Amino acid sequence: MGSDVTALLEELTLAEKIRLVHGAADPDGTATGYVPGNDRLGIPPVTVVDGPLGVRAMGERATAFPASIALAASWNPELAREFGTAIGRETAAHDQDVLLGPGVNIIRTPTGGRNFEYYSEDPHLSARMGVGTIEGIQSAGVSATVKHYVANNQETNRYEVSADVSERALRELYLPAFRAAVEEGDVDAVMTAYNRVNGIYMSDHERLLSDVLKGEWDFDGLVVSDWWGTRSTVDAARAGLDLEMPGVELTEYFPEMDADSFDDDPNPPNGTSSDFPPIPDVSAYFGEPLREAIESGEIDESILDDKVSRLLSMLESTGRQNVAKCETGSPSDDSTGELDTPAHRELARDIAIEGTVLLTNDGVLPLSESDSVAVIGPNADAAKLGGGGSSEVSPFTETGPLAGIESRAADVSFERGVNPIAESSFFGDSELADANGSASAAETSIDDAVSAAASADCAVVIAQDDATEFTDRDSIELPGRQNDLIDAVAEAAERTVVVLRTSGPVELPWLDAVDAVLETWYPGQADGEALAAVLFGDADPGGRLPVTFGRSAADYPTADETAFPGTDDVAQYEEGVFVGYRYFDDCDIEPLFPFGHGQSYATFEYDDVTVSETDDGCDVTVDLRNVGTRAGKAVVQVYVGKSAAPVPTPERELAGFESVELGAGDSATVPVSLAREAFAYYDENSGWIVPDGSNTVHVGRSSRDIRATADVDVQ
Ligand code: BGC
Repeated sequence: MGSDVTALLEELTLAEKIRLVHGAADPDGTATGYVPGNDRLGIPPVTVVDGPLGVRAMGERATAFPASIALAASWNPELAREFGTAIGRETAAHDQDVLLGPGVNIIRTPTGGRNFEYYSEDPHLSARMGVGTIEGIQSAGVSATVKHYVANNQETNRYEVSADVSERALRELYLPAFRAAVEEGDVDAVMTAYNRVNGIYMSDHERLLSDVLKGEWDFDGLVVSDWWGTRSTVDAARAGLDLEMPGVELTEYFPEMDADSFDDDPNPPNGTSSDFPPIPDVSAYFGEPLREAIESGEIDESILDDKVSRLLSMLESTGRQNVAKCETGSPSDDSTGELDTPAHRELARDIAIEGTVLLTNDGVLPLSESDSVAVIGPNADAAKLGGGGSSEVSPFTETGPLAGIESRAADVSFERGVNPIAESSFFGDSELADANGSASAAETSIDDAVSAAASADCAVVIAQDDATEFTDRDSIELPGRQNDLIDAVAEAAERTVVVLRTSGPVELPWLDAVDAVLETWYPGQADGEALAAVLFGDADPGGRLPVTFGRSAADYPTADETAFPGTDDVAQYEEGVFVGYRYFDDCDIEPLFPFGHGQSYATFEYDDVTVSETDDGCDVTVDLRNVGTRAGKAVVQVYVGKSAAPVPTPERELAGFESVELGAGDSATVPVSLAREAFAYYDENSGWIVPDGSNTVHVGRSSRDIRATADVDVQ
């Protein structure tokens, strides 16, 4: 705590301090959350804005970057840092102080409604991308908020469900990205999840907030609740929650909504309601009730002082608005702010390209400019910006796949084939409803799409899912009649390329009938530009899967109702540490496409692989050669097998990776270092243990395409 903060704390009255631990309405109406300042003492107000795909200042525009899962698919933490810097600057340009992102929860269920807002099923990849993003955001002088701490792995019943999860799975899977955000990223704020963990609401979770986060990890920043996610006064205050958000009743926060549409049942079937997501409508727990608890002696005032000092220290630490400056009345320094610059537009495109995963290619890609192309797909004329909910961003500009392809090929036709797929939107201007979409049933026909496909050199089918905060997807099938459309087109076309714009894994029943499949996730405003660059070979599709593509939802550990969405408000995380590819490996289930998979237009050969023990772990080097005719990106992936552990451990766990671009004919030696901790497992009695004896290092191109294996003894 700086001396300014100590001095301010002494000056503040109890009532003034209480006003600094819960939100209030933003007088400008643009912020997602607002904490009023204190004029008497020169404390500036704090403005807080969503996150994490771009800046969602109400009624304002910003660069709509690709979804977090697309960023993670780049396996490029440096790119995450550039992205973070850009959204940090856009946050500053919108005159906001705190960004509500990134989200680092583990993708546990393939149908998760917010999977697109998260990075991966793997904690190491999530941690690397999260740290890069946070460092970037905070370099722009705004605070990042890592969310949602912890085990927010489903939207169904999210306000009540208890993730019943072992300590070992928490430590090995669900907590590491948060820990890295704190210990490496030095994140300013942590948002608590709505859900309960082992029966306790996260806003009340003293062990995870005070003991683990603030104690073991020494987090000295601010713990902020999710919106209306505070569930008590005394328990939350003691547990370590510092700021209740938004501190405003639902009807005041969403004045345009019909009060009758607020669903006061916090736990409807499937967590959904017809008109409005069932948010618990709570009064301000950290307002009057907290003051009373302190005055009655139930809570010691030092607990409140700690919360206030964390907020003031955050203000002091951000270069943008520091307490000392405001005390002298000088305006905040927003010189780092910039919005919708050419560089940000380019970055949005580059991330979309680097996140695009070439799932399969029989040689049809890249296309040639002289090819005639039939663009087919219900929503192929619009960019897929993101999913629904608090992460929605309204961009200044956007390019859909059709326009992107038209800019590169001379002979392009377009047919929707089937009716537009509804896109959930909570804050956006456009509410696309299936039947009421931009094309009516009479205007779309699979037959027309088939004719267009038959008379072109190549059919490019753009397919998508719909995902949103508030609900989980029903299945991992493509919605509507898109599978029928792809079947019909593939039969008629000479060559068929399918472009997926999905929030996570989808079933691909027509896989054998098509020639290439690209996964572009939710690519954001530069959707069409990035797609055209990849389709026509201006850029290599740089992505690798951050999630396993199973053949159906039944392949995942969440197939059983007790595991997901849970019964009697409890989701049993029975699979323990075996989530994602760890589960597929353990159960010997052949994935459709494994974690880490992705092809390149280049052809790489892995020559020599060396693994040498060091004092603090081991060093791996890989001699890579691009023996193809095009430049491309390789992602060297290093997995460990904790084979010496006396407990069941996953066959392989990602422990390091390195992305390299190599020109045709070029070669490079790629180093990857693993710390000793990469070999540790968590024992509920003794903590982290590095097993004695021989463990295994696997080097590969995906979790299932291993090119070299070596034994190491890191003791
Ligand atoms: C979401 C958070 C978001 C907050 C503010 C909540 O519904 O879970 O991720 O930051 O709303 O919009």
